[in-house]
Amino acid sequence: MDRSTQHLNEELFFHHVVSDLRAKPSPSNDYGVFLNPDELPRKWYNIVPDLPEKLAPMLNPHTLEPLSPKDFEHLFPKELVRQQFSDERWFDIPEEVWDAYRRLPRPTPLVRAKRLEEFLRTPAKIYYKAEQFTPVGSMKPNTALAQAYYAKKQGLKLAISETGAGQWGSALAMSCSLFALKARIYMVRVSAQQKPGRKILMETYGTEVLESPSQNTKIGRKLLAENNNHPGSLGIAISEAVEDTLSHKENARYLLASAFNYALAHQTIIGLEAQKQFELMDVVPDVMCGCIGGGSNFSGFIYPFVREKLRKKIETEFVACEPKAVPSTTRGTFTYDYADTGEMTPLVKMYTVGHKFANPPIHAGGLRYHGKAPSLSLLIHKGIVRSVAYSQTKVFEAAKIFAQTEGVVTAPESAHGLRFAIDEAINCKRKGEGKVIVFNNCGHGLLDLSAYDEFNKGKLVDWEPELIVPPQYVR
Ligand SMILES: Cc1ncc(COP(=O)(O)O)c(C=O)c1O
Repeated sequence: MDRSTQHLNEELFFHHVVSDLRAKPSPSNDYGVFLNPDELPRKWYNIVPDLPEKLAPMLNPHTLEPLSPKDFEHLFPKELVRQQFSDERWFDIPEEVWDAYRRLPRPTPLVRAKRLEEFLRTPAKIYYKAEQFTPVGSMKPNTALAQAYYAKKQGLKLAISETGAGQWGSALAMSCSLFALKARIYMVRVSAQQKPGRKILMETYGTEVLESPSQNTKIGRKLLAENNNHPGSLGIAISEAVEDTLSHKENARYLLASAFNYALAHQTIIGLEAQKQFELMDVVPDVMCGCIGGGSNFSGFIYPFVREKLRKKIETEFVACEPKAVPSTTRGTFTYDYADTGEMTPLVKMYTVGHKFANPPIHAGGLRYHGKAPSLSLLIHKGIVRSVAYSQTKVFEAAKIFAQTEGVVTAPESAHGLRFAIDEAINCKRKGEGKVIVFNNCGHGLLDLSAYDEFNKGKLVDWEPELIVPPQYVR
């Protein structure tokens, strides 16, 4: 534990006593902003036409030729393929999806973390977008609802996907149940064992959950033959889901949580709401931060603001936060790589630590992914977004401070963005700067309590790869 955090932890007790005595009514901006439900945006923002350069195409790994929409239609619902290849800046949110958002409910509040500010004694103002309030406890339904809707509308019968820690799986299970679509989800075995609650949640929504590697696919059987207790990984679960989908052909499609342009576009509902919320306060955030696994929640949060920055309307700084254990953007390479372990996907140009990277068993399961979204990778490569990495003990220190000051037990993933927000607020205190800092609280950690338990007992272990071998498929 470093000195500043030790000092913070010692102060927690006194903070509670003193803040009790100090409590007084606050002006309304002190609480952040709730939007009127009718202000829920009607369109998603697609950053593709506004990127500083054209996105590199996805390639056929055998011929290295660019792929076309037709190459994807047997795998993904048609409308999602259209969005993936689209240069349109805005996509209409279908009425049924807008209605489902309203009932989640959305808009989610932008909350001022005033007690955290007081505890840090910082002149900075800290806000967070409260995405933890959905029924499954994360932002994942923003795209899961849209994808389930498009699959249903196309007349498909079965949605197939994978899940790591279970946040995406539970969002998809819920969304498929709401749109009356069957779902099958491959859940990374080690996560299913660490987080049985997530598996039960998916099953409660009526989804079939298979622990991955499974006996249901060729790649799963091969891996189990090598090691009957194989712990699995997100890359392997993706390979199983893709193989299973391709074997169904007509009536099943693969729905995917992150990284693809359309998943990021659907998540911009977060940033578009936040934009209205800041406008209502007449405030422009100085710093926006959040965690990156595949990159969807953070991109969705910042892209509407990135657009304004590229148009030179604002000067906000964007900071992507990842685990030191899986340092895709801080130690990885911006190059072509497979999106899965089993090499069933196209080659994608992105920041990657290599698709064979052995992801250490950190608790932020949603951040254990070797690659990052191509558009976000490009923005990092161009220096428009910067990135930082944290060890999990530093992350849980921040999460515990947040729980004790704001009452919110955040997800291990979102706590990465929170860590940066706290460090930045401490810097502001040193420099006497009153910056406005906002992070995306993309999930709660109420089904991650075993991780908090390990941290509380001082048993949490940090991981960092020694050597990272960059993939070299395209020179
Ligand atoms: C709560 C939560 N936050 C963040 C992520 C990371 O994904 P992404 O970077 O696509 O938002 C996940 C992924 O599972 C998650 O469950």
